[in-house]
Amino acid sequence: MSFLVRFGISLEKDLLRKFDSHRKIKNYANRSEAIRDLIREDLVKAEWKGNKEISGAITLIYDHHKRELLNKITDIQHDFQKIIISTQHVHLDHDNCLEIIAIKGSSKDAQELADTLKAIKGVKHGALSMSSTGKEL
Ligand code: NI
Repeated sequence: MSFLVRFGISLEKDLLRKFDSHRKIKNYANRSEAIRDLIREDLVKAEWKGNKEISGAITLIYDHHKRELLNKITDIQHDFQKIIISTQHVHLDHDNCLEIIAIKGSSKDAQELADTLKAIKGVKHGALSMSSTGKEL
């Protein structure tokens, strides 16, 4: 845990007004916490661009009745097992499934896994949530 440092920021009045109304919508109690999160967000983006070790989650929505779809999803996950921490499968309704894949590894592998899964015929929606291991934040 590092200690807090205070510093001043100069910015246009209009930009500050927009920032304040934005942070209130986002439920930030004060400017400091909102700015801290903006900085962390940018640092996480840099980790992903720099192919650092990251963590995140891939979510998939698909119809399990589609032929070969489940086999393909399983095969691909076995190919990427070095970055997959866990997988959770939820039966959303009679047809649709939600799969949440927790990942930790290089950002390049994570992006490749997400792209490969999303490209499977029958996957209705796929999303990659990019996060950090937290070590660099
Ligand atoms: Ni299911």
